[in-house]
This record gives sequence, structure tokens and C-alpha cells, in this order.
Amino acid sequence: MTDPDVQDHPVSSDSLLKLDNVVKAFTSRRGDVVRAVDRVTLEIREGESLGLVGESGSGKSTTGRLALRLLSPTSGTIYFRGQNAAGFRGADLLAFRRQAQIIFQDPFSSLNPRMRVRQILTEPLVIHGLARGREREEVMGLLDMVGLRPEYADRYPFQFSGGQRQRISIARALALRPRLMIADEPVSSLDVSVQAQIINLMRDLQAQHRMAMLFISHNLAVVRHLCQRTAVMRGGQIVEEGPTEELFRNPQHEYTRLLLDSILTPEPARYRDARTEDGGRRTEDGG
Ligand SMILES: Nc1ncnc2c1ncn2[C@@H]1O[C@H](COP(=O)(O)OP(=O)(O)OP(=O)(O)O)[C@@H](O)[C@H]1O
Ligand SMILES: [Mg+2]
Repeated sequence: MTDPDVQDHPVSSDSLLKLDNVVKAFTSRRGDVVRAVDRVTLEIREGESLGLVGESGSGKSTTGRLALRLLSPTSGTIYFRGQNAAGFRGADLLAFRRQAQIIFQDPFSSLNPRMRVRQILTEPLVIHGLARGREREEVMGLLDMVGLRPEYADRYPFQFSGGQRQRISIARALALRPRLMIADEPVSSLDVSVQAQIINLMRDLQAQHRMAMLFISHNLAVVRHLCQRTAVMRGGQIVEEGPTEELFRNPQHEYTRLLLDSILTPEPARYRDARTEDGGRRTEDGG
């Protein structure tokens, strides 16, 4: 993997992912142009967790999809381990697909309903030629890692609760031992008590595997618990970014203060309505 651009845009030596002045514009059917992501610069180092928060429509999912190359930027550059990701082809692209994984909000739509858990977890290993001849043990190890019983390997996704399904999605993402995990509202569709279990699981796994994480969420309390650094997004732009504790203790931007105030007066019912109205699904298909 060689890329002459690396010299022109130096990234720090342990940089895993860097978005450099990235823009993503969408054109609606009526011809209006929306800059879903507007000159975003962000960096995640190896093993680091970055929270991305902001209101609905601020561009968080689009940022996550750009980082994974599920969308291509209108302008700007995305670097993965110092290499321009737009240039990945063949073996480089396959390596990138292995090293960067995503978990979505709704594990039901992201798990193939016709596959047993065993197949769901084996498929990525087969595609990437990993754990050959040891797939069975690997599946057992993955189930254990996410706190699911070994006999669940023979069940189908519909035979699980929402929290269990999200554990399966996490296991599938972990099967490839990624360096980067992008989690797009991974607990928003779950009950509050189950949310806490999944969040703690993700925190433990992230630390154990020294895996970097981009954690996208509306929920600032969750981000505070999970992320070393936090970036606040609004209208496609990063309005503030810094170490999580500092940002929470001393927010610089008025919008960050507003967001922080709103978690002190939670309105769970309204929150849930807002989630279902503003089709997260639109941004989550086709991944
Ligand atoms: N494929 C698309 N085509 C057209 N517009 C899009 C597309 N994807 C996203 N957008 C628009 O880009 C903006 C940002 O959307 P995005 O899904 O990134 O927001 P978000 O911060 O993830 O919101 P939410 O919290 O509701 O998930 C929105 O105005 C959205 O309507
Ligand atoms: Mg989103």
C-alpha cells in the first residue's frame, strides 16, 4: 500500500482514520443541494474511541458511511492508516473491508433472516480466508465473547431478543478482528436496561482488542461513558471537539451547551418518536 499523497497530507504516526476537509453533497429530486457533511476534519488514533453526537439530520451517519467508503466524498480526502482510502483496490480494498467494520442501529435489518447464527458468523471468515478449518471453534469463541450461549449458534435471528441480536451483530463485526469499529446508534432501538449491557460489552471489547471506535449517538450520557474524545456535529459541520470529560465540564460552543442541557431533562417518549419519524433506515440500507 503506497500512496504519494501521504507526504502531502501528513497524518500523525498512529493515525487510524482521518477525514480531511470532507464534503458530501446530496442533490434532491427537486434539484436542491444539501451538504450533509460540510468540510469535516476528524481523526481517530489506533485504539481510541471517538463519540460523534448531534441532532437528527446533522450528518453523523453520512460521516460514518464516508469513513467506511460506503459513500464517496464530493471533495476532501479520507485516510486509513495514512493511505488515501479512495485509492484502495484489490488486496488493499479487501484489507480495508476487513479492518473497518460497522454496527447499525437496527440489528434485525442488518442480519440475514435466512441464516443461522453459525452461518452469519462464519461468512465473513470465509470471505476473508480466516480461521480455515477452525470455523466452529471461532464461532464458539465469538459467542462467548459477546455473552451468548454456544447452542445459540443453530438459531435464526428471529429467535432472539433485540439485545441478543445486537450481540450477534457485534460478534459478526468482531469476527474479523477489526482495527476500527463504527457503531451507528447501536443501542437506540433497545430498552434502557439492555442498552447498558450492550454499552458495557462494547466498552470491554474495545479495550480488550485495542480497537478504535467511532461511536455515533444522540445520547450524550452513553458517549460520556464510552468515548475518550467527543465531536459535536451540527448542520454537517463539527462545531466542537475534544477530550470527553473536558467537553462535558466546559463546553465551548453554545450548541454543545444546549445538547448537554437537554440530557438533564430527558423526555424518553418524545425521543423515541423523533427516532422513528426521521428515517434512520434510509441511511442504513445498502450497507
Ligand atoms: N442518500 C441521501 N440522499 C439525499 N439526502 C441524504 C441522503 N442521506 C442523507 N441525506 C441528508 O443528509 C443529511 C444528514 O443525514 P444523516 O443521516 O447523516 O444525519 P444523522 O445525523 O445521522 O441523523 P439521525 O440522527 O436522524 O440518524 C439529512 O439532511 C439527510 O436528509
Ligand atoms: Mg443517523
